Amino acid sequence: MNGVTATRLARELGTWHDRGASNERLAATIRSLILDGRVGLQTRLPAERALAGALGISRATVTAAYTRLRDEGYLASRHGAGTWATLPAGHRAAADAVLPAEGFDLRIAALPAPPLLAELAADAAAELPRWLDQHGYEPLGLPPLRTAIASRFSWRGMTTGPEQILVTSGAMHALNLTIGTLLRPGHRAIVEVPSYPAALDALRAAGAHLHAVPVDASGWDLASIAAAASDGEGGLAYLVPDFQNPTGALIDARSRRRALRSLAQSGCQIVVDETFVELNLDQQPMPPPAAALCPATITIGSLDKAVWGGLRIGWIRADPLLIRRLAQARATTDLASPVLEQLLATRVLEQLDGLLADRCALAATRRTALLQALDAQLPSWRYVRPPGGLFVWAELPQASSTALAVRAQEHNLYLTPGPRFGGAGLLERFLRLPFTVAPEQLRQAVATLSRLTSEQGAAAAPSLDPGYVA
Ligand SMILES: Cc1ncc(COP(=O)(O)O)c(C=O)c1O
Repeated sequence: MNGVTATRLARELGTWHDRGASNERLAATIRSLILDGRVGLQTRLPAERALAGALGISRATVTAAYTRLRDEGYLASRHGAGTWATLPAGHRAAADAVLPAEGFDLRIAALPAPPLLAELAADAAAELPRWLDQHGYEPLGLPPLRTAIASRFSWRGMTTGPEQILVTSGAMHALNLTIGTLLRPGHRAIVEVPSYPAALDALRAAGAHLHAVPVDASGWDLASIAAAASDGEGGLAYLVPDFQNPTGALIDARSRRRALRSLAQSGCQIVVDETFVELNLDQQPMPPPAAALCPATITIGSLDKAVWGGLRIGWIRADPLLIRRLAQARATTDLASPVLEQLLATRVLEQLDGLLADRCALAATRRTALLQALDAQLPSWRYVRPPGGLFVWAELPQASSTALAVRAQEHNLYLTPGPRFGGAGLLERFLRLPFTVAPEQLRQAVATLSRLTSEQGAAAAPSLDPGYVA
């Protein structure tokens, strides 16, 4: 079990004592750190005496706060094993729904296809006959596409040859292949919380033991990453440093260096998901890519967010030997990606810079529309303007994300509530708002949320059906 030190917990607790250092306030602040994912479930809390010392308060206050949290079900203890964070039994599982959506579907953060795509698809179809006299199974990917993907990596500062690239059916496929090849049941996976729900689900399904490190719009909690790295457990770390889903965080160069160095030194296999990296809406200089800082990094990515989700073309960049192992592993799933889509993806990569300029401009206009609507209609919701990506991670004044998402569905507005990005019962104060639909629809969506927020009464909401989110 990992633990949080007294010094770190004291820092996370911040100004909890501003209005008096009572045990009730201390308990309430620790509870909200647990619920917001800042103190991970199953994380061992510091001993009472150590926390009292770090906070400069009496041990009796800490003892009373811990007792209160134990009675409420947020802490559990066992003699000899210490005290750790947990959740009260019977908390409702919150999930996103994947029922057919009549209305505004903001569960999927992806833009419609660029107009040029139809033209490029016609070009790809015209080229297809050249490939028809072959069997069409290319487990590693079509050679011209592998070369085009490798060139893009080299252009971004990571010298790459085609032998380092495996073409996949999207980034999610890339992640599943990587997990299936490298992770054994019971292994540890270090994950950001909040993080991309399907990735968390895939890691859980593979039997990984998840170790949460907090992230917010300002970046990673480096102390948590260092603590995870220093415990010698190794395992796999799944990180999204570029316009992270859902916080939009762009991790700065210094944090990348420090985190990657400590994880690599600890023997951890680093998997970096670059799905949003090309959606640099503010066109700011990008920090160095993870694989440029730490060559052993496995990088996954796709064209699905930057260009169009329906393309279903992604990749893995890794050492050529590992690429071959991964290609063998795919034999048990899809054998190879479709040739026509790969020809289209090759054309898309030839035109990528022009396409991206339009995509980023479109997304930036929609971001402005969403943020203006939030400022006007939901001024008590807080957010940090994301520098890229396709969503805002809004912080609500109440822990009401699931209830709000359920009510919104009754009004044909489909959203993924905060807990899907961490775990049932957590992150209820957060809601991800993609800015992927037209400005007028975004304004209507915010108007609906504003109306529902003011109506939101005490009635308990039903839980949502399980499903997927992108
Ligand atoms: C961080 C992240 N990785 C991967 C994916 C899936 O990408 P793809 O559509 O290429 O499978 C998503 C989709 O939302 C995502 O947010």
